[in-house]
Amino acid sequence: MRTRRAVLAVTALSLALSLTACGQNSEGGSKDDTKGGKGSTIGISMPTKSSERWIADGDNVVSELKKLGYKTDLQYGEDNVAQQVAQIENMITKGVDVLIVAAIDGSALSDVLQQAADQNIKVISYDRLILGTKNVDYYASFDNERVGVLQATYLIDKLGLKEGKKGPFNIELFAGSSDDNNTRYFFDGAMKTLKPYLDDKRLVVRSGQTQLNQVTTLRWDGGTAQKRMDDLLTKSYGTEHVDAVLSPYDGISIGILSSLRSDGYGTAAKPYPLVTGQDAEVASVKSIIAGQQTMTVYKDIRLLAKTAAKMTDAMLKDEKVEVNDEKSYNNKAKVVPAYLLTPVSVDKSNYQKDLVDSGYLKAEDLK
Ligand code: GAL
Repeated sequence: MRTRRAVLAVTALSLALSLTACGQNSEGGSKDDTKGGKGSTIGISMPTKSSERWIADGDNVVSELKKLGYKTDLQYGEDNVAQQVAQIENMITKGVDVLIVAAIDGSALSDVLQQAADQNIKVISYDRLILGTKNVDYYASFDNERVGVLQATYLIDKLGLKEGKKGPFNIELFAGSSDDNNTRYFFDGAMKTLKPYLDDKRLVVRSGQTQLNQVTTLRWDGGTAQKRMDDLLTKSYGTEHVDAVLSPYDGISIGILSSLRSDGYGTAAKPYPLVTGQDAEVASVKSIIAGQQTMTVYKDIRLLAKTAAKMTDAMLKDEKVEVNDEKSYNNKAKVVPAYLLTPVSVDKSNYQKDLVDSGYLKAEDLK
């Protein structure tokens, strides 16, 4: 009898507890009763509106998620780390179900993502890998090292180095923001490819600035790159000609080209050097058509947004998330399973086919 009464008491207690839990859930907006359905809200945290790609990324991710029936909360951190952290905190408080984050500073999100994990909110690292926390579930990006390989290979081909041209050719190197994990991948891919020609001195960096920490550009800022190029031209060139500039991103390339123009480049007597880029931004594609910037690396961010939306949907429905790389992206706390898309080298010869015919850019925007 005593035993039976005890069992009844325990049953009553657990019933009461689960009822209480249900009550809390319905009042507090339980994650589980809305997961995977139209009720779920996805927080999207983008780094800045100062570049057209991130504006398009935000819009694309919203529209892909809407197609799958999700609500969205899109915020831009305006390249201010504290602002991005506050925006993510706010999304967590509002009870989003998944966070899609393109970090401004990849190492600054550990605390806020611990708060997300405590609320059982899943996290997708978008384009840029979030570092130093295990609370990142998946990474959607491009093959970042390949971006650098494409830029460097283009320079090698156009300078005729593979065909045996001796040069020596003068090259200067630029890299992206030091707090963005992609920076290292782009630079390493490029330097690995350029190395044999730097070693045999057919390529010469007259400034001597060849280490990543000497060539980064905080927040990928074009003005900062322009100032550095001014400085390089004044201190290391004089009558010497710059033949090539490794630039990791279109916004930086535009700054470099302004500096070159001020120094008299862009004439028959003093032609522009080869200048690489990335993102196929309208201003840079126009510059390529006009014979200024030489190439860009096109990353179809429409596919990136689709990938992130598919990952979100699969996670919320407890289905298998499709990845194609489970080894390359160690964020110092774990290897983050990734889906990596393929970047494409674009110059004057293929922009029409790859950018316009594919519908990525509109012909009239390039006039
Ligand atoms: C990187 C991104 C590049 C470029 C750059 C500056 O993280 O991979 O495509 O957009 O930021 O915004």
